[in-house]
Amino acid sequence: MFITFEGIEGCGKTTQSKLLCEALIDKGFPVVYTREPGGTPAAEELRSFLLKTRDEKFPPFAELSIYEAARAFHVENLIRPSLREGAVVICDRFIDSTVAYQGYGRGIDISLIERLNSEATGGLKPILTVLIDLPVEEAFKRISERRKDRMESEGLKFHRRVREGFLELSKKEPERFLVLDGRKSVEELHRQILSEVLGRLGAL
Ligand code: TMP
Repeated sequence: MFITFEGIEGCGKTTQSKLLCEALIDKGFPVVYTREPGGTPAAEELRSFLLKTRDEKFPPFAELSIYEAARAFHVENLIRPSLREGAVVICDRFIDSTVAYQGYGRGIDISLIERLNSEATGGLKPILTVLIDLPVEEAFKRISERRKDRMESEGLKFHRRVREGFLELSKKEPERFLVLDGRKSVEELHRQILSEVLGRLGAL
């Protein structure tokens, strides 16, 4: 079972994905917890390049290509082998982030991104995507204390487009997406996510 978490920065997806991971381990499921960009040594190197490079302009196409390259390493070396071994794979961000950030955020043609997503993953898609939705102003308040990386330093308008992108994606595939209100408490969100996942694991 392949589960992904999506949302804008500060929405709470990392907290929730880790809580889900702990809860499933407690119940005896084999779980692999990972993230994008990253998850393997090569993909983690690409992550730091993507998030730290600031000394020259970062062309949107270069950004897109490197996110996709990191994904190809990740799917080939970690996600597919783990799924083959029967693990529940929980991934903090995946293909939908590329459509939301590089498509809706940067303005790159969505059909090109869909094509590259499909090449990088060999067609692999999550069975469940938890989208934690939060107004951008609220998210910005939450991350205001952090030292911001290159993507987090983008303005309000960029992140509004990204949020809109995620919501549009969830409307296109309602059976894959579980959309939750990020203003709910950590405990309430966790309860909802766990119950959805256990339901689906039972149904497999
Ligand atoms: P994180 O810090 O939430 O793990 O995500 C890293 C940053 O990378 C975040 O700003 C979202 C961005 N990102 C993209 O722009 N495109 C992608 O395909 C992915 C996976 C992440």
